[in-house]
Amino acid sequence: MTTTTPGNAAHDATPDTPARAPAPVGPLATSAFVRACRREPVPHTPVWFMRQAGRSLPEYRQLRSGIGMLESCRRPDLVAEITMQPVRRHGVDAAILFSDIVVPVAAAGVELDIVAGTGPVIAEPVRSAADVGRLRRITPDDVGFVDEAVRLLVAALGETPLIGFAGAPFTLASYLVEGGPSRTHGRTKALMYGDPQTWHALCARLAEITLEFLRVQVTAGVAAVQLFDSWAGTLSEADYRRHVLPHSTAVLHGLADAGVPRIHFGVGTAELLKAMGEAGADVVGVDWRTPLDIATARIGPDRAVQGNLDPCLLLAPWPVVRTEVRRVLADGLAAPGHVFNLGHGVLPETDPDVLTRVVELVHETSQR
Ligand code: CP3
Repeated sequence: MTTTTPGNAAHDATPDTPARAPAPVGPLATSAFVRACRREPVPHTPVWFMRQAGRSLPEYRQLRSGIGMLESCRRPDLVAEITMQPVRRHGVDAAILFSDIVVPVAAAGVELDIVAGTGPVIAEPVRSAADVGRLRRITPDDVGFVDEAVRLLVAALGETPLIGFAGAPFTLASYLVEGGPSRTHGRTKALMYGDPQTWHALCARLAEITLEFLRVQVTAGVAAVQLFDSWAGTLSEADYRRHVLPHSTAVLHGLADAGVPRIHFGVGTAELLKAMGEAGADVVGVDWRTPLDIATARIGPDRAVQGNLDPCLLLAPWPVVRTEVRRVLADGLAAPGHVFNLGHGVLPETDPDVLTRVVELVHETSQR
């Protein structure tokens, strides 16, 4: 493996192989983040944090005070500012668009709210074929505010890549069917097992909505996308393959020509890592339960990995954090590409200074 020094990184774009999607042009093609996603040599392991744009930052809480979550997601100026906050503060290698997984279903006309401390709450849960029939597709005009926010951000971020995202069909379906967050996903699974035809119709429509939402973000200039299937880990591999994989594949394969790396992430997915890679991911996100070397052995050599420090570890004393960050980096050396992240989102009670120190430590320790 050749190495790239920080000094010449910008001049070291490797020509694309025919098997891969076309490379993004300009400085984004050579960012450490995009290079790691593409399994190319990097000057250092890139790092960002899921939920970095959010409640662990006092400047975020201040900006959001008195403004509802959905309203914030629909105001491009606020979205841009909140997305930039962790980039300025921590020096992370990528920004993630401030939004939420339910934004595109709200744009499709589903009445919902995002309740602080609870999450998305749906006024009329989707539980029958007739309910699914009422769920319409979206057009780019329905999410014009996202297009505008991404364009503002791409201009403001310069060489820092912006990650777009969406929720995967299963996780979105679980909110729509349950009406809100659920521990067991009981009603969701009851629909999946009991009325597979309605289930597949629901997931197929959600896949269309998600794909359109991601296409808007890609057209506006995001450098990568992450498909969050946060709750897929509640399924066995057989059920995942039968009831979920075709729909996640429709989304990820639908972006194969987009030229941006596709990251696919879920929690508790140790048994699903291979299948989630097969859905069409360039990078598989791994939670803290599976060490990255073991994850890579399961996923195979054709995909990079992202993860996987336990977010709770950031609440422990610094020497403990330091040891674990180094362990994650060492485990990640077994992967053909590694993007450092947490195994799930930043907890609101995390000290932001610890996040900044983790970024510095990852960069120092992984310097090639
Ligand atoms: O990662 C980032 O920093 C970008 C922003 C982002 C948010 N939600 C902002 C948010 C992203 C990527 C998401 C995705 C999301 N939303 C997921 C997938 C990721 C995951 O955590 O598994 C899921 C399952 C949701 C649904 C959702 N929205 C939940 C469970 C919650 C938390 C409820 C709470 O308040 O504790 C939300 C609300 C939400 N989304 C907040 C933020 C910053 C908190 C709202 C607030 O600040 O009032």
